Amino acid sequence: MCKIIDGKRHSAEIRDELRTFADSFEKKCGRRVGLAVILIGDDPASQVYVRNKEKACEEVGIKSFMYTLGKEVSQEDAEELVRTVCEDDAIDGVIVQLPLPGHLDRKKICSLIPVEKDVDGFSAENMGLLALNDGGAVSACTPLGIMKLLEREGIDVSGKNAVVVGRSAIVGRPMSLLLLNADATVTVCHSKTKDLEKVCAGADILVAAVGRPKFITAAMVKEGAVVIDVGMDRDENGKLCGDVDFESVKGKCSYITPVPGGVGPMTVTMLMYNTCRSAARRNDVRL
Ligand code: GUN
Repeated sequence: MCKIIDGKRHSAEIRDELRTFADSFEKKCGRRVGLAVILIGDDPASQVYVRNKEKACEEVGIKSFMYTLGKEVSQEDAEELVRTVCEDDAIDGVIVQLPLPGHLDRKKICSLIPVEKDVDGFSAENMGLLALNDGGAVSACTPLGIMKLLEREGIDVSGKNAVVVGRSAIVGRPMSLLLLNADATVTVCHSKTKDLEKVCAGADILVAAVGRPKFITAAMVKEGAVVIDVGMDRDENGKLCGDVDFESVKGKCSYITPVPGGVGPMTVTMLMYNTCRSAARRNDVRL
């Protein structure tokens, strides 16, 4: 029997724990934990994501500082805002919602966020620390959320064959490093991978992060595997679905994350976690 992992429930439980931390932080430090979210332009998906982040802040008791800039903003003005926000001592974490309008230099803008406030974990320094298996690294939220799901479900990673399909900077790469740091034997697949079906079929833990609807079919899944679906796609009828063909795969695996309600809720919760962790470190208190 396959267990469907309830990301919403895990997420709600973790948010409760973070709320307790955020309340005790205020008692000790005289202010709420603070997260700044900078949204540039009018990408509709980004607007939804940012609203979800604000709502999560409210739930956890984190003070959110929202900044929006129009899509025509100059590089200089965008940089100026990021610099000012990063200097604010009441702010423990800063994120610039991606993607940015095409004329802006994303690398330059993101590099202005100091490592101690980089709660997305996208900076070269945090990625480097993660590659070095340094416990001080801030991990990108989606892969970190997946590790928490595996841990909370009691799924042992050590010694397992883990296959990550997709090599993006936000998911695939940090995911492969977290699994490696947890002693899995990791294979990263991408568009040039030969015999993808065969490689996936060897996975004890299969993470799909390709951005293609129902790309992972039952033939690519080993009997009893753990299947993690990072996709947020639309099927041929415009309905939300994942990278995994859920209906056919669920008969074959031991665990699977649904879309929606699997990995998605955990991503925002891990942003709250990274922000609380940043506040704790900056103020020398325990999380
Ligand atoms: N755009 C899509 N996902 C993310 C994310 O996790 N963080 C930021 N900053 N932008 C995103």
